[in-house]
Formats: sequence, structure tokens, C-alpha cells
Amino acid sequence: MYLQKKGAKFWACCPFHKEKTPSFVVNPEEQYYHCFGCGVSGNVITFLMEHEHMTYPEAVETLAKQAGMEMPEEESPEERKRREASQKILEANRSAARYYYSSLKGAPEAVAEYISKRRISHATAVAFGLGYSPDRYGLKRALNAKGFSDSTLKDAGLVNAGGGDIMESRLIIPIINIKGNVLGFGGRTLSDEIKPKYVNTRGTMVFDKRKNLFGINLLKKHLSEEKITSVVLTEGYMDVISLYQAGIHNAVASMGTSLTDEQCREIKRLVGTVYVCFDGDAAGENATWRSLDMLQGVGVEVAVMSLPDDMDPDDVVKTRGADGFRDLMREALPLTEFKIRRLAQSEDLETFAGRENFALKTLPVLNALSPIGRDTHIKLVSELSGLSAESINNSLKDYAAGTAKTTRVEKERNDEPGEVPKPQLRTERFLLKSFLDGAEYASVGDFGADAFLLPVHRRIFEAIKADPKLKIGDLFDMEPDARAEIEAVVSATDGMGRETAEEYYEAILKKYFAALRKERIAQVTAKLKAAAGAEKEALEAELLKLLKNDK
Ligand code: UTP
Ligand code: MN
Repeated sequence: MYLQKKGAKFWACCPFHKEKTPSFVVNPEEQYYHCFGCGVSGNVITFLMEHEHMTYPEAVETLAKQAGMEMPEEESPEERKRREASQKILEANRSAARYYYSSLKGAPEAVAEYISKRRISHATAVAFGLGYSPDRYGLKRALNAKGFSDSTLKDAGLVNAGGGDIMESRLIIPIINIKGNVLGFGGRTLSDEIKPKYVNTRGTMVFDKRKNLFGINLLKKHLSEEKITSVVLTEGYMDVISLYQAGIHNAVASMGTSLTDEQCREIKRLVGTVYVCFDGDAAGENATWRSLDMLQGVGVEVAVMSLPDDMDPDDVVKTRGADGFRDLMREALPLTEFKIRRLAQSEDLETFAGRENFALKTLPVLNALSPIGRDTHIKLVSELSGLSAESINNSLKDYAAGTAKTTRVEKERNDEPGEVPKPQLRTERFLLKSFLDGAEYASVGDFGADAFLLPVHRRIFEAIKADPKLKIGDLFDMEPDARAEIEAVVSATDGMGRETAEEYYEAILKKYFAALRKERIAQVTAKLKAAAGAEKEALEAELLKLLKNDK
């Protein structure tokens, strides 16, 4: 990225969207960046998290290193031991991967036959670092010769108690994390007669299949150059490999377990949408639904693909090609619609009881939606069940009343901008940005916290009041969960000339005072009713003044 200095700021072409003329500005004094084109903003930490796909601790550590600071980690002797042992395991794994890869050359004819039967090209095999385990003790010999002790090999889960390779005579699929470390392996039999079909590295100090996603290293590799914004979530190694070969570089696999929170968050860090392709049976299971809710819960869009009966993505690519798979992606259903249609399938809609059951089952799904979402999906339930939208809505109200107590508590600390009317939101954002910019026309003292309805706006306002030197860059650390809202604040004066901004500010101020006066008039009027003597006189005088001002 080439940064060009103009005045106190730096300009560049935005690294988060495609453009030819620079609209990305870095403000060193205020310690933030902002793109006038796509609206992203953030500070140095969010930049590393989003552009380099680091986690928060990784970003902080990187910055500390750049600044020549040691991370203030107080490593105990045990921690140090663990870290060194993990390091050793990763080295042994890398070495094992090399050994397996190079063993592919002299492997029996059957191995090449199997690979070609699965239609895996040479390039694909290289991209995934596929390999072969030729015999029981070859791995141990090779790694011992490289200086790895037997206990390291055991700690890495590479060999069994007797030193034998657990992957013997299998096709080897290395499992690599986002940083490029080899965490473990999957080993497939060459013959479907042999069970189990796959042997995987057991849980070790560096590997937990519930915390990792197969294929994430290649996704990361293609992420920025291909502007990837979604992932295809599959179940198997071969699905990822096959999709990759077909040019679909954004597939990952959960390695046969249901999704965990960690996996969801890793996905969220990388993309905004997930195409889920579980096979038909899994789609009905509770574990699958929980996974999908969890994904949506971390804030990614979930689109559920329906694959033809008994087919996995690998089969789809083989029979219908990449285009056939992409067609299915286009037909994917948003999660809520998928759930409703799924519930419809679980009941016999030919009978009255079935239709009623179906509608009742959709109530929790409908209740979790925003008012607009609720409306459209009530229509869908009505269409599918033949029941009137009104009766569904009434049932939903009853249902919601039963759960109202909990939703109410959630609302109180809700920071959803949807709760505040749009023009008001615009006003609040504009005011905050003006204060943060130190705009000449604006003064924090003009307003009270009551001018801000959105809780996060109010907190930012209080923070500016308490510390007039507060930098925009600080906001991202202060309110890490309100990233999108802060971006909206930072963009609030985009495209607005100084004069327009000043006029807008004056208008807001006027309205604010008018509202204050109205409130005061109401207060005084109420007090007057019970007042007498000197107090009454004072109140009457104030009221008169207020009312005069009203004209
Ligand atoms: P699948 O049977 O769908 O795997 O199991 P696949 O990748 O499509 O395998 P092929 O096409 O038959 O070669 C899904 C995933 O579950 C795990 C693996 O991670 C596999 O990719 N699994 C499956 C095992 O760990 N062990 C098994 O015996 C089977
Ligand atoms: Mn398969």
C-alpha cells in the first residue's frame, strides 16, 4: 500500500475494496484510518485484525514487537516448557509431512491409481501437500535421523506406543492452520473395505479437531487476492480438496464434528457469509441446527445449501462440475427460511393437526426475528400451512408474551441502532464526529447526555466530555463490540462541506433547545398546580419567559 502525505494526513487506495483513486485516509494525529469509499474505519489494531486476519492478542503482540517492546508476559517455568514442547511437536509434524510427501514418489502403483481414481491432479496434491505412509517404521527412522526423539513423536501423536506409524499404508492429508503450521494429519485407506476409513491425529498439545478447520490455510492464501467474502462449510477432507481443484478456493471442513464457538469465530474473522453444505440427514439434526445458530450468533450470514440426496460436495463437483456446485450455492436458503421449510417437511401438512403443529413449531423461530423479518416469514408460514397470517400472528403474540420477561431485560442494554429512529441516529453520529474532529462550530458543552438516545453514543459523548483529547482511534478499543456503529460515526461528515456542517449543527442545536424548553414548560406547569406564594410567583415568571421565547 502506497501512502501519500497530504497535509497532516496520508492518502492511499483502500486495501479493503478495489479502487483506482485514493479514498483511504490515515490520520496519524487522531490515530485512525477511514475510507470514504467503502466506509471502513479503525485503528492500528483493527487494521491488523482485519487486513492481516490476526486475533486481538496477535495484533497487540505484533505491534509490541514492532515497537521493540517485549510483551509483558510473565512466563512461568511450566508455561515455558509447554511452549517449547509445542514448538517441538510442530517441527516434528512439519518433518513428518515432508517425509510423507516425498514417499509419494516411490509408492506402490495402487497409490497413484487411487489418486487418479479420485481425480486428484498433481497440482492439487502439491497444493494440499498430500503424501503416503509406505510402512510401519519408516517415519520413526526418518524423524529419529533428523534428531526427533521417540517421546516427541509420541507427544505429536505420530506413532503408537511401539513406535509404529499410525498412518501406515494410508494416503496422508496434512491439517494446516492459518499460520501455516502442520497440526496433524488425516489418513485415508486406499480401499473402502478397510475400516476405519480415516485415521486422524489424536488430540495433542497443538491439535484439537474441534478448534480447527481443514483448508483454512488455503482459504487465507486466496482471501485477499480473490476478494473472498464467504466460505463454503463442508464436512470432509475430500470435499475441500475437490472444490479447491474445481477453482472454489473458499471451502473448509469441520472434520466430522459439529461446529464449535471457536470455529465460528475464526470464520467470522475472515468472511461475512457461510454457505453450509451438510448432507441431507445431518440437516435435520439438533446438532446441526445448533451449529447454524452459533454461526449466525457470531454475526455471519448463514446460507444453507441443499445437496441432492446422498451426495457430498465432492460428488456434486464430479457429476455437475464447478458450475453445478455454484448453481446450488445460488439456490442456498437464508437460515430462517431454511428452518421454516425444514419444519414444514417434518409435519404432514395434509392434515389439520399437522398444519397446526407446523405453525406452532415455527413460533420460536419467528419470535427471534426483527419486526420486518417476522412479517415476511409469517407470510411464508401462512403460505405453507394455509393458515391465515393473522392467526399465526396472534399465536406469536401469545408466545412472545410468555417469553416477554427475558426479552425485556435484553432490550434494556440493547445497543442496536434499529431501536432509535434513523434521523435521530444521523444527528447523534454527526454531533459525535463534530466533537471528535474538534470542529470550530461545535462545542461539547452545548449538549447534555440526554441528546443521545443510543447507549453507545451516550457513552462516547460522556467519554469526550471527560477527556477532550480523546482520539477517534481510542473508540475502537473503548467499545470493541460497537465497531460498525463507530464506523458510522466516523463517516458521519463524509462529503459534507464546512458550511453545510455548520448549518446542520445550528439546526440540531435549535431543535435541542426547543425540546428542552418544551420539557421545562411541562415541568413548570405541573409544579404550578401545587405551588403557592413566592414559589408560585417565580414559576409564573419563568413560564411567561419560556412562553414568550416560544414564538
Ligand atoms: P466423510 O465420510 O463425508 O468424508 O466424513 P469424505 O471426506 O467425504 O471422505 P471420502 O470422500 O469417502 O474419501 C466426513 C469427515 O469425517 C471425518 C473426516 O474428517 C472426514 O473427512 N471422518 C470420517 C473420520 O475422521 N473418520 C472416519 O472414519 C470417517
Ligand atoms: Mn466424500
